[in-house]
Amino acid sequence: MTIIDGKATAAAIKAEIKAEVESIVAQGGKRPHLAAVLVGHDGGSETYVKNKVLACEECGFTSTLLRYEDDITEEQLLHTVDKLNRDEDIDGFIVQLPLPKHIREQKVIEAIDYRKDVDGFHPVNVGRMAIGLPCFISATPLGILTLLRRYNVETSGKKVAVLGRSNIVGKPMASLMMQKQYGDATVTVLHSHSQNLKEECAQADIVIAAIGQPAFVTADMVKEGATVIDVGTTRVPDTTRKSGFRLQGDVDFEAVSPKCAAITPVPGGVGPMTICMLMLNTLAAGKKEYYK
Ligand code: GUN
Repeated sequence: MTIIDGKATAAAIKAEIKAEVESIVAQGGKRPHLAAVLVGHDGGSETYVKNKVLACEECGFTSTLLRYEDDITEEQLLHTVDKLNRDEDIDGFIVQLPLPKHIREQKVIEAIDYRKDVDGFHPVNVGRMAIGLPCFISATPLGILTLLRRYNVETSGKKVAVLGRSNIVGKPMASLMMQKQYGDATVTVLHSHSQNLKEECAQADIVIAAIGQPAFVTADMVKEGATVIDVGTTRVPDTTRKSGFRLQGDVDFEAVSPKCAAITPVPGGVGPMTICMLMLNTLAAGKKEYYK
C-alpha cells in the first residue's frame, strides 16, 4: 500500500514554482501577486488563509491579506472585489469561503473578474473547465488530478466514484475525471440521496471522498486494490492535542488503508496540494497564461 504524500509533492511543486518566479524576475518580469480576502474569524478559514500567505512566500510571490469583520456589508465586500479587479498590480485574488449568512456568496463570486479568479469558482471558469477549454481549474480537483498523475495511478477507462456534489470539489472533480484530456474515466457521483451508495462505491477503482462526514468511508465500501483520495478535513475534538482538536478525513484510514493500492492521509494528503494548486494558478495568472 502506497501512502500518497501530498505534503512532499506540494513542496516539490512549490520549489519548481519558486525557481520559475526567480527566473521571470531575473529577466525583468513581474513577481506574481496574490490577494486574499478574509471575512470574520472562522478557525478553519483563518488557518487556510494563513497557509496560503505562507505558501506565497515559499513561491516568491507578493501577497496581500485583506481582513474584515463579519459585519461587513455585501455592498462593502463587492466594493473591495471591484477595487481588486481594477488593481493592476494584483494578478489574482480569492475571497475565502464560507462568507457570513447575510452575504450572497454567489453574487461575490460572480463579481470577481474571471481573469483574476485563481480559485476557478467564477461561472466563466467553471463553464470553460466543463468543456475542456484553458481556464483556472479549482484547486482541490486540480490537486487530486496532479497527485494521481505524479503517483502513476491509471485513470483512463477506470471506474471512479466521487462522493459529494459540492461546487468546489464534487462537481468539478466528476467533470474532470470524465473528460478525455484529464481523467478519461467512467464516473459515478454519489451523494446523500444515492441508493446503494455502499455497493456503488465498492465497485470503484478510485474513490474520491468529499462529503465532509468524518470516517464515512468504511472498509466494506472499498474494493481490494482501490486507490482512495480523502478530501475531508473535519475538526474533531481531541483532548490529547494542544489545539483541542485534530483533523479527521472522510475515510476511516485505519480500516480502509490495508485494502488500498494507494491512499491519501489526513492531514498531509489533499490539503497541501490544494494550496499548492492555488499557487500554480497564481503563477499562470501572473504569466497571463489563459487570459490577456
Ligand atoms: N473554502 C474552502 N475551500 C476554499 C477554497 O478553495 N477557496 C476559497 N476561496 N474558499 C474556500
